[in-house]
Amino acid sequence: MARLLLGVSGGIAAYKALETARLAIRSGHAVRVIQTPTSERFVGRASFEAITGAPVLIGQFESDSARGAYPGEPLPERAPISHLALVERADLYLIAPASANTLAKLAHGQADNLLSTAALAAACPLAVAPAMNHRMYLHPATQANLKALAARGVTVIEPESGELASHGEYGSGRLPDPERLLAVTQALLTAPTLDGLRVLVTAGGTREPIDSVRFIGNRSSGRMGFALAAEAARRGAEVTLIAANAALAPAPGVRVCEVATAEELAHACEVEFERADVLLMAAAVADFRPVGAAETKLKKDQGVPSLELEPTTDVLTTLTERRRAGQVLVGFAAEHGEHAIDLGRSKLERKRLDAIVVNDVSRPGIAFDALENEVTILTAGGEQRHIPRAAKDQVAQAVLDAVERIRTEVSGGARRAGPPSATRV
Ligand code: CTP
Repeated sequence: MARLLLGVSGGIAAYKALETARLAIRSGHAVRVIQTPTSERFVGRASFEAITGAPVLIGQFESDSARGAYPGEPLPERAPISHLALVERADLYLIAPASANTLAKLAHGQADNLLSTAALAAACPLAVAPAMNHRMYLHPATQANLKALAARGVTVIEPESGELASHGEYGSGRLPDPERLLAVTQALLTAPTLDGLRVLVTAGGTREPIDSVRFIGNRSSGRMGFALAAEAARRGAEVTLIAANAALAPAPGVRVCEVATAEELAHACEVEFERADVLLMAAAVADFRPVGAAETKLKKDQGVPSLELEPTTDVLTTLTERRRAGQVLVGFAAEHGEHAIDLGRSKLERKRLDAIVVNDVSRPGIAFDALENEVTILTAGGEQRHIPRAAKDQVAQAVLDAVERIRTEVSGGARRAGPPSATRV
């Protein structure tokens, strides 16, 4: 995916940079690390080397045994002449944590160690995540430095408020959690290829009431749908997420509409579908529901109830019948066993979809209620692409890539890319 150069300066929060590197790698990025000498007092280079699988550079005159290559890239035949090869080839240079001292150097163009020299030489977007004691953070000198950096196009990732490292102190200056740092990184690395597009995503599993406390449900956690919504938003789309019983936080910018039953989901889809350009139907919608759910709780002493079931509406089929030209419809099929792909293909045809994402739920550790997934994306145009087992956000990237290809085929929809805007986030 992308080459991320992570600069780590001195501060207790340096430990969060380790986790940030790990999450970035899990999201498919190739990560190299530059540390300041002071940061080594907090986290040693061996830890970053173990996580990134690449040498860490600290000194300006240190040679790079990986010759400027990022993990996954072949080792160049010759060592680069410049010690700045890493930043020259980076897609993003993220400095986290950025100490008050490092920020002051960056603001004034000082280049007295490899981290600050690389910042001065960076042609890629630069992001800094300040972390320090709150008095240092609020000091007019630090604030002026941050203002100068932001005015120059550097993304400043605002610190959070809360308990600080020094005992008993509270205030602003905490490095955001690695998940947040990764979210900003992803946003900066992703070109807005879906800019101006309206994407409707359904996620989670519906619950069909038996009585006032019991329901028939399924094992869907909603993670796949939430990952799709996050990825679409990262690519610049206006995203609406219809979420059925998912206890997850949506990505920034995603509008959420919560539903519980298949009927509520069908209604929400009916309202939202008209204006959507893309539908990603990842929700596990119940096919049957109990006839006449009891208003109150069924009591044991009334005997074992027998449940009569009735079919729910097939939401996707209903929407396909109403589709307008140019809309892209993607279904999801959880199939069991060796014929999963064939079953998926016939579902793609039967439901007249543009694509279907098939997974074989007989495999352990993927799909329902899991962090990972392994899918095959089938398209109406005959494409069949297997996505090996990966984190759901990576699978989401592959699905959105397929949507972009379909849009290009169907409507000649042009890919748009632009530089990320400089800001304080
Ligand atoms: N789906 C839907 N409404 C339903 C059931 C499913 O919109 N009542 C959607 C799902 O969100 C998914 C696709 O249809 O995108 C395929 O779901 P699946 O349950 O695999 O398909 P079914 O048509 O229910 O087929 P079967 O149960 O026979 O496998």
